[in-house]
Amino acid sequence: MTTPATGSPSGQRSLGVGVVGIGWMGHAHTRAHVRLPHHFPDLPTRSRLVAVADPEPGRARAAARQYGFARATQRWQDLTEAPEIQAVSITTPNYLHREIGVAAAGAGKHLWIEKPVGLLAQDARQVGAAAARAGVQCAVGFNYRNAPAVAAARDLLEGGQLGTVTHARVRLLSDYAAHPQGALSWRFERERGGSGVLGDLASHGVDLARYLLGDIDAVVADTAVFIPRRPQPTGAGSHFELAVGGEPGPVQNEDYLGCLLRLASGARVTLEASRVSVAEQCAYGFEVHATKGALFWDFRRMGELGVSVGDQYQNQSVSTVFARPGHGEFAAFAPGAGIALSYDDLKVIEAARFVRSIADARPYGATIDDAVNSALALDAMAESVRTGGWVEVAR
Ligand code: NAI
Repeated sequence: MTTPATGSPSGQRSLGVGVVGIGWMGHAHTRAHVRLPHHFPDLPTRSRLVAVADPEPGRARAAARQYGFARATQRWQDLTEAPEIQAVSITTPNYLHREIGVAAAGAGKHLWIEKPVGLLAQDARQVGAAAARAGVQCAVGFNYRNAPAVAAARDLLEGGQLGTVTHARVRLLSDYAAHPQGALSWRFERERGGSGVLGDLASHGVDLARYLLGDIDAVVADTAVFIPRRPQPTGAGSHFELAVGGEPGPVQNEDYLGCLLRLASGARVTLEASRVSVAEQCAYGFEVHATKGALFWDFRRMGELGVSVGDQYQNQSVSTVFARPGHGEFAAFAPGAGIALSYDDLKVIEAARFVRSIADARPYGATIDDAVNSALALDAMAESVRTGGWVEVAR
């Protein structure tokens, strides 16, 4: 049972928030809720930090002190059972998304849940079904689509000035696991992480491809494990940490994905994702080619969109368009073009859309349906690796 949002001194009603899992993403979700009134003062509700849960000793208490949660606990059930919580962030390792998501939705909580939402598409589907049954909103952490320059890219594609999209390249290359002494965290285990770079990074790439270019019909994929053994972590650490000298254990999921996608539109996409690319740090982005133009975006220069548009076909130049007010939610952060936004700002945008979707009882931003569709494409990639051929993506 959930009690309705109550009033706050700002005149906004308050929205009781719980956060389950206070690692990197738990902190990012919490900070986003805290910053909402700075950037989106007109939201109908103000987030009130009610409780945070994490089984690692001391973590939840430390976060409660840092952000002002009223309560800290080691049990996520304390949050799903709390009547004064209306919205729950699920920012745990992937294997817990389904169980916690279904329980929280069943208790009438709105969900802001991290990608990839479970280990397989069936997990995301179960969370989606529970949310639909309960009539709650379910936002998903596909934050790259929130970048104002990405919103501008979508507007340009929808406006038709570039002609018809023929092909695109989407890449998500990272070195976070490139060090052979990188800790064997939950991300490298089938049971707790599910897939490797598919769920971790390619899920974002699939979402970007779908957001910009539409549905995916079929995929053919290849994967590889380049670092088959890693040291066990000595304590609870993040996937960025080394565990030099730890007892070696097997890596159970893929480090690398190379994939071709056929879109319903007829466009072709290549998607490459790696967690072990030395010298690539957050090299996330896309190049979209169309009959009359092209678009170029790199997360590390998030506010810049390369745009080539015209009727020259050959030798047509590319301009840099800086994100500006009017592009997505840019105006909530800065008054003029070229002022840089950050990764955390993308989470503030996600939080604002989530909170607004609760108030309006209709979704804004990436939803559980997007997570299901992304996961179906990832499942098809895994099936293609097994069979060695093209696999149609279920919808
Ligand atoms: P992390 O390992 O930094 O944090 C996970 C936290 O969950 C830890 O504090 C851990 O103690 C806690 N936890 C484990 N079992 C729990 C339980 N039973 N109840 C409550 N808490 C529990 O992991 P990180 O990087 O924050 O990833 C979490 C999720 O966020 C993953 O699903 C991941 O795919 C996603 N993610 C999304 C990103 C994005 O850009 N949207 C970026 C990084 C992660």
